[in-house]
Amino acid sequence: MPGFDEMDVETIWMDGEYVDWEDATVHVLTHALHYGTGIFEGARAYDTEQGTAIFRWDAHLDRLYDSAKPYELDIPFSRAELTEATLELLRRNELDSAYIRPLVYYGYHSLGVSPAECPTETMIATWPWGTYLGEEALQEGVEVTVSSWRKHASSQVPTNVKTTGLYVNSMLAGEEARKQGATEAILLNKEGDVAEGPGENIFLVRDGEIFTPGLAESILEGITRDTVITLAEERGYTVHDEASISRGELYTADELFFTGSAAEVTPIRKVDNVEIGSGSRGPITEELQQAYFDLTEQAADHEEWFTFVD
Ligand SMILES: Cc1ncc(COP(=O)(O)O)c(C=O)c1O
Repeated sequence: MPGFDEMDVETIWMDGEYVDWEDATVHVLTHALHYGTGIFEGARAYDTEQGTAIFRWDAHLDRLYDSAKPYELDIPFSRAELTEATLELLRRNELDSAYIRPLVYYGYHSLGVSPAECPTETMIATWPWGTYLGEEALQEGVEVTVSSWRKHASSQVPTNVKTTGLYVNSMLAGEEARKQGATEAILLNKEGDVAEGPGENIFLVRDGEIFTPGLAESILEGITRDTVITLAEERGYTVHDEASISRGELYTADELFFTGSAAEVTPIRKVDNVEIGSGSRGPITEELQQAYFDLTEQAADHEEWFTFVD
């Protein structure tokens, strides 16, 4: 995956100010750096036929404010202010399409575990980002391995929201998979049932019906998951969105695919070296992937899902 530099991210928004790349820094005693006490979002702006638009921005903002709740982070900016900052960043950085990363975190005051005295800091960055798992992955599908690391349980930390510190689990699982020659991992939950990918939700197709683990399976409440459920139901599919999926069902599925703002809709062609279905992108995966890309290219349906840069 390519790194980025000041050519890509000339301007970053920090606590109400537009700052240059080299000035977007924090103190090493920042609470979040030591304890992972931040919450964040990952959204995309698409270069649609109607102009550049942030996809499902309202849902991302909803989840950002929800993520703040368990940690008692008081986001000191309104939805309108965060929206205007993001739209302005897209304009200033001259981005037709982009990945968008808002982050809210406990800053520097003291380094006890309690952040009570720490300020809440907020930043937003935007940068160009192509396909997350590679262009070939969208066509051919990815190979994954089931991680030996379990997803943390929702009884241990809130898993439905997006917290920076929790991504050490994702990192361990993803790196383990890549050491085994796979592209990505699948994490089982504490009970041993299927949870999700390190940065993706997972869907399974069997006998023409669609299954995805429910929130009680310790998954992130993915926005692309919701988009794909909606698109599938609109096309007449039955979607079981509170499924409990055992590990064995992965290998015998007709089709499997990941969803995520970064990964979009990515087919899975092998799990632990076992071919899934025909061993390439399955027909229902292809149909839903096409529906997703048509939607984000054309912005012709679901107007309420697009926030345009004017
Ligand atoms: C752990 C995890 N699960 C699922 C997802 C997919 O969520 P979304 O579709 O909202 O990007 C992500 C990405 O944000 C993630 O990090």
